[in-house]
Amino acid sequence: MNSVLDVRAAMLQCLEGGQYHAREKIKQNGAQPYTDFLSIGLALKNCFTNPAKHDELIARLKPHADVIIGVLPPGIQSQGLLPTTEELADPNFKLLQLKDVSDEQLRKWIVDDGSLVYGELTSEELHNYFAAVCPLLTPGGHFVDLGSGLGKVVMTAGLNFPFETCKGIEIVPYRHRMAQERYLHLLKVGQESFNQLQAPTKPEDVVSLPWTTELLVQHLLNFPKRTSFMMGDMFTCDVSQASLVFLYSTCFGSFIHKIAHKMANEAPEGCLVSSTTHVMNHPGLELVKHLPAKTVAWTDVFVYKRVGTGPWPELAQIASYLPNLDEWEVKARELMVAATASV
Ligand SMILES: C[S@@+](CC[C@H](N)C(=O)[O-])C[C@H]1O[C@@H](n2cnc3c(N)ncnc32)[C@H](O)[C@@H]1O
Repeated sequence: MNSVLDVRAAMLQCLEGGQYHAREKIKQNGAQPYTDFLSIGLALKNCFTNPAKHDELIARLKPHADVIIGVLPPGIQSQGLLPTTEELADPNFKLLQLKDVSDEQLRKWIVDDGSLVYGELTSEELHNYFAAVCPLLTPGGHFVDLGSGLGKVVMTAGLNFPFETCKGIEIVPYRHRMAQERYLHLLKVGQESFNQLQAPTKPEDVVSLPWTTELLVQHLLNFPKRTSFMMGDMFTCDVSQASLVFLYSTCFGSFIHKIAHKMANEAPEGCLVSSTTHVMNHPGLELVKHLPAKTVAWTDVFVYKRVGTGPWPELAQIASYLPNLDEWEVKARELMVAATASV
């Protein structure tokens, strides 16, 4: 290790590969903050894997095709978070029939399921993101990632800018657990790398980065105090002190208006809020930067500033994209047939 920049690089290296993690199946109702996620999901999955129930499944899903991420809900497919009934192996689990699930419950389930799809920006995309956003910030302040997954963005934020604190909130328990494990590993690597430093370094030395000269060695040394992870629903997260709120919101399209409403009413004036893929249309959020797809990241990034005085009433959701339902049905049936053939 020649310099503190090498220490930082070794810490950042610990954050690689999260997008490929093995997804853990959800095995218990109530382990999930979403009520009945498992029972409703298994009712759907049982129709998905039973050809005699494909017509019923199509009929129930069709009115909600506009909120499905992809063609069929990701959770019920083989890579999804729902176990098969055999994998569940719980004799006390009471299976629901799809006919016992109301349309309202079903729509909410589809939205929740879509929001759990996992993805991460690459390190290069995050580098581009912070290079674009940090010049808009003053040192200090509080970074928040809503839906923080395995913690890559929270930890990258702490290594990229002198935020006073960086916190993430994640709803899926195993992801929260993995974020904490990765955090501990990163701290260990950071400590070992500091111990191997050849040249002496002082807390007030600058860790020189293209977008800030304010990140000091002491910020890296204080990394454990500056970083935290919580398990829970983003809608319960306190953003009242935030200076930058990050959302990898590509799968949050059907409730982006709810997030915008929370930001406009709960984030402090001047706070920056960034979203991916979906715009936030709200009078309390002013667009300050649009980073089109393929400039910073594979998708569009929007950066807003919290402006004006609320409280604002909740706005209706803007009509979402409605797929061609005949085409949707053809693709959905193809997926169902392929899944049943592979069992
Ligand atoms: C696309 S991933 C992004 C992870 C992380 N922010 C990143 O960019 O590397 C979105 C994450 O949000 C989580 N999530 C979805 N809905 C949530 C909610 N209501 N509250 C907290 N986390 C949520 C998902 O479980 C998932 O881990």
